[in-house]
This record gives sequence, C-alpha cells and structure tokens, in this order.
Amino acid sequence: MSRALVTGGAGFAGRHLCLKLLSEGVDVVCVDSLVADTGALHPDRWPISPKGAFSFLHEDCRQFFNRFQARFDYVFHFAAIVGGRIKLETEALYVAEDLAIDAAMWQWAAKTRPGCVAYLSSSAAYPLSLQQAEVHQKLSEDMIDFSKALGVPDLSYGWAKLTGEYLMKLYVERYGGRAVAYRPFSGYGEDQDLAYPFPAICKRLMEAEGAEEVFVWGSGHQCRDFIHISDCADFIWRSVDRLPNGASLNLSTGIATSFIDFAGIVCRQIGWCPMISGMTDKPEGAFFRCGDTALQSSFGLSPAIDLTEGVNRVLDHLRCGEKDCPPRRLTGAWAGK
Ligand SMILES: NC(=O)c1ccc[n+]([C@@H]2O[C@H](COP(=O)([O-])OP(=O)(O)OC[C@H]3O[C@@H](n4cnc5c(N)ncnc54)[C@H](O)[C@@H]3O)[C@@H](O)[C@H]2O)c1
Repeated sequence: MSRALVTGGAGFAGRHLCLKLLSEGVDVVCVDSLVADTGALHPDRWPISPKGAFSFLHEDCRQFFNRFQARFDYVFHFAAIVGGRIKLETEALYVAEDLAIDAAMWQWAAKTRPGCVAYLSSSAAYPLSLQQAEVHQKLSEDMIDFSKALGVPDLSYGWAKLTGEYLMKLYVERYGGRAVAYRPFSGYGEDQDLAYPFPAICKRLMEAEGAEEVFVWGSGHQCRDFIHISDCADFIWRSVDRLPNGASLNLSTGIATSFIDFAGIVCRQIGWCPMISGMTDKPEGAFFRCGDTALQSSFGLSPAIDLTEGVNRVLDHLRCGEKDCPPRRLTGAWAGK
C-alpha cells in the first residue's frame, strides 16, 4: 500500500487528486491551511466525501514540514497562493509567498527523500513572448530549458513556478531525489471557485439569459486551453511513475478557445445567441496560452471530457446551487472506482 502526502489537497485541483488517489487504493494525508480567498474547501464540503485511508490536517504545510520527518511514497505539492487574474495582477507580492512555500517543500524533501515528488508548476511559467497576439505558438515542455536563455514568465506567480521547477532540477541533480513537474493550463470543473473565468462566465451568462449583448473580459479574443480537472488528476496519476526523473509535463488539451467562442458555447447550451463583446477595462492576461500535447500523447494521455460536456456539467452544477451541489454524474478519472 502506497502512502501519499497532498499539500494544498483541500484546494480545487488537490481535492480531485486526493479522490483519484483514494480510488486507486493509495493512503492519503492531506495538509491544507484552508487559506481564505483561495479554492480551499474543508473535506466536509467536497463534492464527493473522501472514502478510505484519508486523513486531513488543517495546517500550513511549512509547519508540517518542520515537525514531520517521516517518508512518503509520493508527495503531490499543490499548496500555493493562487487565484484568478485580478489576484495575480493586484496581489503580486502576496502571491510571491509561493517562493517560500516551495523552498520549504524542496528542503524538506531533501531531508526525508520521498519516493517521488510531483510538483504542481503552471503554464504561467512559459515565456510571455511566445503568447502574444502577433507571435504565438503552442507551448511545448522543451520551451523551458534551464541550460539556455529563459523567457520572462507571467508575473510573480509565473516566476515562482519557474523557480520551483529550477529547485526541482537542483533536487534531482544535486540531491539525487526523484521528482517530476506538471504544468496545468486552464483547469476547470464543477466545484471551481467563481474567481476563475470558466465558472464565472457560465454563471454570468446564466444570469444574463435573454440579453441582446453580453460581455467577457479583455478583448475577448484571448485564448485559453481549458482542461477538465478530472482529466488533470488522471494524467498525473497515470504518468507520475513513468516520466523520466526531472521531467515536466503539460496538462492540456491542445485546443485553444477564445473567450468569445467560449461564451458562445455557453450561450448556445443555455439556449440563446446574443452578441458577445469584450470589456477592455478588464484584464485579459496572456493573449494565446495553449499547450502542445505531443509529450502527453506519447504517454497515451488524452482528455476524456470535451469542452461542450464540461460546459454542460458546470451549468448543471450552477443550476442546482454551486459548491454545495455534487456533480450530476461521475465519469473520467474517478468514476466507478
Ligand atoms: N487549477 C488550475 O487550472 C491550475 C493551473 C495551473 C497551476 N495550478 C497549480 O495547481 C495547484 C493547485 O491549484 P488550485 O487551482 O487547486 O488552487 P486552489 O487555490 O484551489 O488550491 C490551493 C490550495 O493550497 C492551500 N494552501 C496555500 N498555502 C498553503 C500552505 N502554506 N500550506 C498548506 N496549504 C496551503 C490553499 O488553502 C488551497 O486549498 C497550485 O500549485 C497551482 O499553482 C493549477
């Protein structure tokens, strides 16, 4: 029986990973300080109750690292100060706390030597110069190469994730540990915090049903690669033992969808076709952020939930009362296990 530590495991992505691990028979210790204004939810309020060998510690993971020196088979390091675009832009120094959280985790890992550390990086670590309106391309894992010149990532959040990956490289090369990193693109799901664009746009459009014109942030032409969170959890579990030591992997679909097109899909599912315009007084972030999927495909990883199904799930969930309503159906990563 394997034992895993999931830091930030009560957050949006972390709780889906906890449920996936439990469904695979892994014992899970979830450490989360339930930071306000993040995606944190106490396990009593998760969409699905964790069953099996699960323990929850309401604690800052840095305190946990200070007092707990036993070895885990896996450490999934999700703990981070993260949020929607407004938070990344207006609270950049608060978000920089991630540098301290990650440094503590790598120092602790060097002492306790887990079987494998899976570090949750981000697509925000990629150079912004490759994500512009004029010049952009799908982002492939080799575009971050510490032996070459590095591009500037997205704000303090991107710098923290880039630095976290560099610390992973040192951990692997100088301390002989095993670690891999994941770069999620725009993960979404039924129980995601409304600070994120996917559920926020769905909710806004539900409330605006019937209006002649509706709005999305920025120009509306900015593109994201939306991936359902259960696909992310599935990809992580299926690749964590197979990736080469020190490797990073995108968690992406390879499909770029503009905010205007996304809103169009949502409106069609709701049942009307308004004009959709941008709101240029609101931030839009990088113009084109989409993952190259070649490396994921080489590990046989392809998403089970497409955007239309994902939109339907989120709309269904919002219709029956947001976070307190369980997802209607279970498919994908942890269904029926
Ligand atoms: N969701 C995505 O699409 C996405 C995209 C890119 C990267 N990521 C990365 O995945 C990880 C999880 O993201 P998320 O979307 O679930 O965010 P989230 O805000 O829902 O979860 C983060 C969790 O970390 C916890 N936390 C923060 N500081 C802590 C500390 N010092 N000790 C213990 N717990 C702490 C928070 O309470 C929260 O529960 C983060 O590292 C994030 O950068 C997620």
